[in-house]
Amino acid sequence: MTALARETVRVELPARGYDITIGAHLTEELGTRLNPLLTRPKTAVVTDTTVAGFHLAKLQASLNAAGMTHDTIVLPAGEASKSFAQLAQLCDRLLGAGIERNDAILAFGGGVIGDLAGFAAAVLRRGVGLIQVPTTLLAQVDSSVGGKTAINSPRGKNLIGAFHQPLAVFADISLLGTLPARQLRAGYAEVVKYGLLGDARLFDWLDANASLVVALQVPELVRAIASCCRAKATIVARDETETSERALLNLGHTFAHALEAATGYGDKLLHGEAVAIGMAMAFRLSAALGYCSAADARRVESHLANIGLPTAITDVTDDLPSASSLLDIMRQDKKARRGGIVLILVRGIGKAFVAVDIADSRILSFLEAELNRS
Ligand SMILES: NC(=O)c1ccc[n+]([C@@H]2O[C@H](COP(=O)([O-])OP(=O)(O)OC[C@H]3O[C@@H](n4cnc5c(N)ncnc54)[C@H](O)[C@@H]3O)[C@@H](O)[C@H]2O)c1
Ligand SMILES: [Zn+2]
Repeated sequence: MTALARETVRVELPARGYDITIGAHLTEELGTRLNPLLTRPKTAVVTDTTVAGFHLAKLQASLNAAGMTHDTIVLPAGEASKSFAQLAQLCDRLLGAGIERNDAILAFGGGVIGDLAGFAAAVLRRGVGLIQVPTTLLAQVDSSVGGKTAINSPRGKNLIGAFHQPLAVFADISLLGTLPARQLRAGYAEVVKYGLLGDARLFDWLDANASLVVALQVPELVRAIASCCRAKATIVARDETETSERALLNLGHTFAHALEAATGYGDKLLHGEAVAIGMAMAFRLSAALGYCSAADARRVESHLANIGLPTAITDVTDDLPSASSLLDIMRQDKKARRGGIVLILVRGIGKAFVAVDIADSRILSFLEAELNRS
């Protein structure tokens, strides 16, 4: 009965702890599972056009069967929806739907919907409840867990947001079957990130089982997602607002954000692909600086390449940015502290640390070498 393999991961936060339930066919059970979490049988579903096309009918049938009244708000798919204009419209529609202070809204989509609906939940009536039903692999292991919500500013991604923890997260792996293979692989980059940053045994397990995970084999996929959620939950419980340890979750991300900005946040380079490149870069820089072995860096590269992920910016485009423009973007990263670049480097697989003292000139020469890889 592998189809019923289920795992629950608890996020322990003072007075705001919540469960992440992971398994197949959870959407069909959502109506009954939500009842005990809500103060009355009413919610508003926020989703995007793509997810609605594939999966909304199942969710609505489940809510109807449980006697739960609900409005459904379908937004355009894509990053552009994380805007003030969409936030304003969404809040207006939620108020129009009669969502009150003690109600909860349901985010049914990838990280875009989770971040936008999550931010709306954080500010609507000074905070209403939020249920996350993430529908991408990236959202199931990362964005739906931990309470970060945000929209984008023309000056940068995720610059306007709030911490707002959900009441519960339901990661239904059956929803991933309609995800394009490229999106699934990009999400896998965030999966392996947890092994690389803090859990060498998880990396070893993924090294042996990654092909089953991306082939959506139920037990392996549930186990991988649960491991990631457990890792993130542990870090978030110790450092909810990212004053220290939570920064390790940014492994590969300072490089990734610079590459995404330089390539225009488009289809050329998905976020997870940028993260794969960024993690390979973090290992290569760590090896060049003598923090980690070249063998570990090579092992990470071949793991990512075996999944079909890029490991260098030269893998994805010939239209390369300059090293100095990448460095400028890295200096503006919101994680930069007092103008200095904060990098997450590694002492080996599973041993990430925060490095604040790498000279800009050293980073620049590393970026130049990266752009000249053949
Ligand atoms: N809050 C956090 O902690 C956090 C962490 C990581 C990323 N994020 C944010 O998450 C966003 C990226 O998330 P994402 O990769 O899920 O992007 P996304 O929400 O844009 O989803 C990717 C694409 O897949 C489609 N899709 C979603 N579920 C589907 C399904 N089951 N079947 C078919 N298509 C489906 C979407 O419509 C979209 O076109 C970014 O905005 C990023 O900033 C937030
Ligand atoms: Zn990421």
